[in-house]
Amino acid sequence: MEDSFIIKGGKKLTGTLELSGAKNAALKMIIAALLYNEKVILENIPRINDVTELLQLIKSLGAKADFIDKNVVEINPTYLAKNKVDLLFASKIRASFMLFAPLLHKFANCFVPNPGGCRIGARPIDRIVDGMKSLGIEVKYNSRTGYYEAKMVNKPKGHYQFVKPSHTGTELLIMLSVFGKDKIVLENCANEPEIDNLIEFLNESRAKIKKIDGRVEIEGVDKLKFNKPFKIIPDRNEAVTYICLTLATGGYITLNNLSVDTIGIFAEKLKQAGVEVKINKDNSYFGYVNSLKPINVETSPHPGFMTDWQPNWAVLMTQAQGKSTIHERVFENRFSYVEELKKLGAKIKFVESKVSDPENLYFFNYKKNKKYSQIIEIEGPVKLHTGALNIADLRAGASLAIAALIANGESIVNGVSILERGYEDFVEKVRKLGGEIKKI
Ligand code: EPU
Repeated sequence: MEDSFIIKGGKKLTGTLELSGAKNAALKMIIAALLYNEKVILENIPRINDVTELLQLIKSLGAKADFIDKNVVEINPTYLAKNKVDLLFASKIRASFMLFAPLLHKFANCFVPNPGGCRIGARPIDRIVDGMKSLGIEVKYNSRTGYYEAKMVNKPKGHYQFVKPSHTGTELLIMLSVFGKDKIVLENCANEPEIDNLIEFLNESRAKIKKIDGRVEIEGVDKLKFNKPFKIIPDRNEAVTYICLTLATGGYITLNNLSVDTIGIFAEKLKQAGVEVKINKDNSYFGYVNSLKPINVETSPHPGFMTDWQPNWAVLMTQAQGKSTIHERVFENRFSYVEELKKLGAKIKFVESKVSDPENLYFFNYKKNKKYSQIIEIEGPVKLHTGALNIADLRAGASLAIAALIANGESIVNGVSILERGYEDFVEKVRKLGGEIKKI
C-alpha cells in the first residue's frame, strides 16, 4: 500500500483553492442521517478515509450509505438492522460512539464499544456518559467486553450542564434530545461552527433546536422530515493548513469558499504576525509580506484558537523572527510532531507550565499528580533541512508535510493514510499551489 509522500521542498507556494467539506461536520451529519425514516442526501462530503470508514461501519449495521457522486452521499437508514457496533470498525473511527443516538432511537437499547484513547491523549467520554444519564438513559460499561450497554426506557428528558464543554458530546446530546419529551436544556455546551451546522441540518428537517452561546434548548418532535439535499460547511481546519503551508514557504493563497468568521482569531494572529489578510465578499487572501513576527498562542474551544490549528502554526513559527510559544489547553498530548520537526532542525523545546488554576484552565480532566507538558517554545527563523518523518496523528501529519515543503530538497513523510483521514485530494491541492509531492 502506498503510504508515504516524497516531497521536494524549497519552493514558494502560491495560488487559489476551493476548500472541501468539513470532516468534523460530515461525520456527525452522516450519523444524524440515521435518525430519519427515509433517504437522506448530503452534499459537500469530503472523500477522506474517515468518511469511507464511517460509511462501511454504517453498512455493517445494515443501513445503506454510499457516495452517489464525487461529494454527495445518500444514506438510507430504513435498513438499519443491528444494534451492536462492530469492535473492529469502531476502533478505526472514534466518532463511532455517536451511534448511540440513532441506535437508541431505533432499538431502545444498543451496544457501542468504548472509543478509547488515541494519539492526542486519553480522550475519555465521561462527560458524555454523564449527560446521557441525566437525560434518563441507562448506560453501563462492561469492562469484560469493552462495550457500553445503553438502554432508553422512556423518551429522553431533563437538563444537563457540561462540567467543561465537549464538541462531540454536545452533538451527541443534541441528537439524543431531538425526539425527547418536553423541553431539554443543555448548558455549558461547545460552540464550534460544526455544531451550528448540525443544528441547521436538523432544524431544516423540522427539529426544534435553539442555541444561544453555550445554552441549547430542544423541544422534542415525533419525527424528522427530510426536506432537500443538505450542503455541509467548508473545512476551516483545511483552510488553516493551506494558509500556513503557503505562508511558511513565503507565498500566498486565495481561498474561494472560506467563512472567515470560523477562523476569526487565527486571522487576527496572522495579522499580528505581519501577514497581509484581505477578506473580500467572494474570497479571502493571505499573503506573506517581508518576514513573520513571533506570536504566542493558547488553544481553547471556539471562538478561541483551535487546538487543531496549533501543529500547523508551530511550523509557521519556525520561520518567524524570534521566540514564540504555544500553550495547548484542550488536549493533554498534542505535541507528537515536535520530535519529528526537530529532525529537520527546528528549534522547539518544552517549557514548564506554571499555571495557577490548572483544573479550570485546561479543558481535559486535569489530574493533580500527573506530569503534563502543555507549552512549547519555538525559536525562529530556522532553515529546515530534509529528512524522513513519521506521522502520528492527523493534524501533526499536515504539519510534517508543511515542514517538508519548506525544507530545501527531498524529504520522505511516512504514514500518510493518517493525514488522508481528514484531507481530501491533498496531493492534488499541494500540486495546484506549485508544490512537488508524490505518493509512493
Ligand atoms: N473530554 C473529556 N471527557 C469527555 C469529553 C471530552 O475529558 O466526556 C476532554 C477531551 O479529552 C479533550 C477535551 O475534553 O481533552 C475537549 O474534547 P472534545 O470532546 O471537545 O473533543 P472531541 O469532540 O473529541 C472534536 C473534534 C477534534 C477537535 C476537538 C476540539 C471531531 C470528530 N473531533 O473532538 O478534531 O480537535 O473537537 O474542537 O469532531 C481532528 O479533526 O483531528 C480532531 C481531533
